[in-house]
Amino acid sequence: MSPEARLSLLLLPLLLLLLLQAPLNSANAGPGQDFTVVFPENIADYHPTSPENHVWVTALYDDTTVTVDSQDDTLDAGQTERFHINLELKKLKIQSNSSNPSFLVSNKTTKVISNKDIVLQAVSNKNNSLQTAVIIPTDRLGTKYFIPPVPKIQGATIRDSITSINERGPFRLIIVNTDQDNTVTVGGPAGTRQVSLKKNQVAQTWVLQNESLQEVTAEKPVAVLFSHPCAFHQNCICRLLYALLPPATSDMKKFLVPPLFNDWAQTSVLLSETGSRREEPCSANQAFIDTAGSAVLYRPGLLLPLVSEENLGSCFVVKSIGDTNYAVIVVRKNETAGVQIGDAALNRDIQQWQELGGTDYVSTNVSLTADQNIIWHKSSKMAVYFVGRKDDVLFGNPAPALSATPDSRGCVVVPEVLNISSDPVSWQESVASCQTRDQKLASLSSEAFRRHVCSKLPRESGVKEVWIGMRRSSVTGEWYWLDSTASVNETHWDEGSPGTVDGGQCVSMSLKNSKDFVWQDQDCCKAANPLCYREPVLMPLS
Ligand SMILES: *[C@@H]1O[C@H](CO)[C@@H](O)[C@H](O)[C@H]1NC(C)=O
Ligand SMILES: *[C@@H]1O[C@H](CO)[C@@H](O)[C@H](O)[C@H]1NC(C)=O
Ligand SMILES: *[C@@H]1O[C@H](CO)[C@@H](O)[C@H](O)[C@H]1NC(C)=O
Ligand SMILES: *[C@@H]1O[C@H](CO)[C@@H](O)[C@H](O)[C@H]1NC(C)=O
Ligand SMILES: *[C@@H]1O[C@H](CO)[C@@H](O)[C@H](O)[C@H]1NC(C)=O
Ligand SMILES: *[C@@H]1O[C@H](CO)[C@@H](O)[C@H](O)[C@H]1NC(C)=O
Ligand SMILES: *[C@@H]1O[C@H](CO)[C@@H](O)[C@H](O)[C@H]1NC(C)=O
Ligand SMILES: *[C@@H]1O[C@H](CO)[C@@H](O)[C@H](O)[C@H]1NC(C)=O
Repeated sequence: MSPEARLSLLLLPLLLLLLLQAPLNSANAGPGQDFTVVFPENIADYHPTSPENHVWVTALYDDTTVTVDSQDDTLDAGQTERFHINLELKKLKIQSNSSNPSFLVSNKTTKVISNKDIVLQAVSNKNNSLQTAVIIPTDRLGTKYFIPPVPKIQGATIRDSITSINERGPFRLIIVNTDQDNTVTVGGPAGTRQVSLKKNQVAQTWVLQNESLQEVTAEKPVAVLFSHPCAFHQNCICRLLYALLPPATSDMKKFLVPPLFNDWAQTSVLLSETGSRREEPCSANQAFIDTAGSAVLYRPGLLLPLVSEENLGSCFVVKSIGDTNYAVIVVRKNETAGVQIGDAALNRDIQQWQELGGTDYVSTNVSLTADQNIIWHKSSKMAVYFVGRKDDVLFGNPAPALSATPDSRGCVVVPEVLNISSDPVSWQESVASCQTRDQKLASLSSEAFRRHVCSKLPRESGVKEVWIGMRRSSVTGEWYWLDSTASVNETHWDEGSPGTVDGGQCVSMSLKNSKDFVWQDQDCCKAANPLCYREPVLMPLS
């Protein structure tokens, strides 16, 4: 055997495993089963209105049991349930009798645990001060975060002084620890400060405008919020402002900047990367930012972590909260036709899509109703933001992505699996072989599905022939598919196939490139590789 032949034999099992799954990028705040939530001080902890703090839980699967503190409930796939949480972080005062005066440490965290994947949105509300965030599951948190530059807010944070008046006080970093004892460092070129946290504790610290703080690093994963309890937006009215920061990554990314409210006035991007933090204005001509750090959009009342091109998803949960809610959708110009809202296509004229200058993306916003909560794409990936308005002030967050695997059949929770088993066996053994992996010998009973499967098959796998789920009835001699009692009406036979009833009783598909994956009737006892398939799990659309 030649070395090349030996090598291709060694590679064979690897090539045969076709996992049709685009991994959901780890920077996405997507589904999970374990979360730690905090609610930042909203306006002021002494404010006479009591906080209305909630988490909204959306289940991806039936029989999902969710525990929030001591409350629990069982949800079905697609169902969203609201849980009240009566905890708000305290005013950040410098602790004069503590060993570490720059941090205020407390135990005011809430655990949310489930037995199957859920997505979790936090809603902080006090009177008209409303903010939302999608909570990152514990297993996707990072140990390093870039600190955004402090936005310049008229009338607020004029001078960097640590005052007890919230409106004049500086921004805060809120560092949320999970289930292990931890040491967290907040630092930059001018020095660092450090805090030790016990499990499930949270630390708050200042970020002064004139400080050169660059990043938060921790021994174990943490979540980091960037927040101001009472930032002015207009006419001396202040509101809570916060964003849950994405874990830092060092690869170069292109962040797409959607035009909110169809204008760019008062909008800037807070950019932080290694060695630099800066606030950059945005414009219609350049609606993107390239950076190896993170990017948060700022406009009065709103801090919105941006989604990068590398981090697009194909199905999102958007849950209507409050009075006026929109989904802002960002998609490639040539892919607008595939956008679906629930079970219907999004109907938009071309002029309702706004170009993102300097990119091949366009954006539109869609009003949400209470019963629409899934936005998905049939064939491509996109970014979706959830944006709401409360008394003319925006709030919002990137919508949580359920997956990054587009599928024309719906919103994919678990992608389909298509796998060519590496052992050539008989047709009957092939049926059993797929079953042992909880899959089925693939039935290509419609032309659309046949094309779909063939588009995913490798041209050069080394496998020449696979069994598919079609054979003749030994009683009537009629062809039938394993997954259907309907008669076979769409076929893709090779020239000269099938032969007579006395010929081959089972159907194989040729993977030889030149033959366009045609079918032949074959002796069922012949050995070929089983083509196994498992349906995707789809989210209910209404
Ligand atoms: C020190 O801090 C604790 C709790 O943080 C507080 O209860 C106590 O009153 C403080 N002591 C002084 C002398 O300020
Ligand atoms: C937080 O809880 C731990 C034990 O779980 C306790 O030792 C500690 O004193 C608490 N800290 C505060 C600030 O309440
Ligand atoms: C709540 O907001 C309304 C309207 O902005 C304001 O009139 C009212 O005084 C606020 N309530 C409290 C308790 O601050
Ligand atoms: C920032 O400003 C405060 C108050 O004006 C001052 O005390 C502090 O030294 C300044 N820090 C730096 C790094 O310049
Ligand atoms: C959505 O689009 C409409 C029409 O273009 C516009 O009037 C509205 O302000 C937009 N809303 C948001 C939140 O972008
Ligand atoms: C849209 O354009 C991108 C490249 O910009 C290309 O990869 C993609 O296949 C195109 N989609 C369609 C539906 O033509
Ligand atoms: C795909 O087939 C290979 C080889 O038979 C097997 O090892 C692997 O477990 C299969 N993968 C899945 C997801 O079924
Ligand atoms: C094949 O049969 C199915 C139902 O049995 C039907 O929906 C489909 O239109 C038929 N296709 C053709 C090409 O006749």
